[in-house]
Amino acid sequence: MTVAMRETRVFQVDPQHPDPAPIRYAATVLQAGGLVAFPTETVYGLGANALDARAVAGIFAAKERPFYDPLIVHLADVTGLAQVTQSLPPLALELAAHFWPGPLTLVLPKAPQVPTEVTAGSATVAVRVPAHPVALALIAAAQTPIAAPSANRFGRISPTHAQHVFTDLAGRIDVILDGGPTRVGVESTVLSLLTSPPTILRPGGISREALAQFLGVAPLLAASASVSTALPSPGTTLQHYAPRARVFLYCGPRPVMLAAMHAEAVRLTAPGVRVGLLTAIEDVPALADLSAVIQPVGSEDALDEVARHLFAGLHALDQAGVAVILARDFGTAGLGLAIRDRLTRAAAGRVIDLEMQKDPEE
Ligand code: TXA
Ligand code: MG
Repeated sequence: MTVAMRETRVFQVDPQHPDPAPIRYAATVLQAGGLVAFPTETVYGLGANALDARAVAGIFAAKERPFYDPLIVHLADVTGLAQVTQSLPPLALELAAHFWPGPLTLVLPKAPQVPTEVTAGSATVAVRVPAHPVALALIAAAQTPIAAPSANRFGRISPTHAQHVFTDLAGRIDVILDGGPTRVGVESTVLSLLTSPPTILRPGGISREALAQFLGVAPLLAASASVSTALPSPGTTLQHYAPRARVFLYCGPRPVMLAAMHAEAVRLTAPGVRVGLLTAIEDVPALADLSAVIQPVGSEDALDEVARHLFAGLHALDQAGVAVILARDFGTAGLGLAIRDRLTRAAAGRVIDLEMQKDPEE
């Protein structure tokens, strides 16, 4: 696919109190059908006017994203729902009142004026109100809902820093609003309200437990969410969130997991072959003797920290030029579910499940 070259202008913006001038400029670019990357609380988004089919088509071209993958529409507040959805179930407004602004995306029946480019021909539309002053100021200034996928080329790691966006998309988009690193680090939870109970289509920044507590019933979990180590089988997963290196995900009791990663790093390390390890901070001493690149992403007791640093950790290992990344799992509680989903996709199903093996220290 050939992509028209554009001059990409980068503006530094204060993430809490964004200067109105670059926001106004970015809003006029959106109104003219252009593409603007902006920070949300989860990851950077690549935005276009959601009601302009041609502008939205530009997102797919810049990302080289297949047209069958629908986009999330970002709203300045809950009143924006009237513009893009119809026949709202009462539960939608209750969830919105509780979780917005925030990393929860609701899949709802779409209004006729939402172009099919946004929804990939589906009768539903995915919507959310992001919890980020820059995103909210931009949507308000543009006076239109903004369709925005993560601001990365299709199949690559989502950007949590403006530099990631620049590396991937410079020359293909019009503006990058640089509001510093994002806070949550994994994308929003996508929840379909077309089933009862609702179905988590993608685990993300709002945990399954938080939804269960609010709903009074556990949400369903779509088979497409890569959260069981039994599924998907290697090779069948759509490769996504992938660094250049081959990723292997290790799941199981911590000592078993670390011993297996250590042994594999020893086996793989050879002249000219660098191995990367994506781990918790407390794992570092057990791996320190390896001549590998060790990338701790946070403590296993603080999964918000792990989620925040996960994608930057994968980016950093790619930058270090490792051939293989051995990543550890962080369980399925809270944000662990989203972390496992992203790592399973990065590993394209190369999951080493050690769940049944006994802890050698017992
Ligand atoms: O946190 C996020 O969600 C970020 C920020 C920028 O808001 N956005 C994001 O967008 O991750 P994207 O395009 O990378 O992922 C959108 C997800 C995809 O899994 C897509 O299939 C799903 O939402 N989705 C969008 N519209 C849908 C629909 N109508 N029905 C079902 N799934 C939908
Ligand atoms: Mg994405």
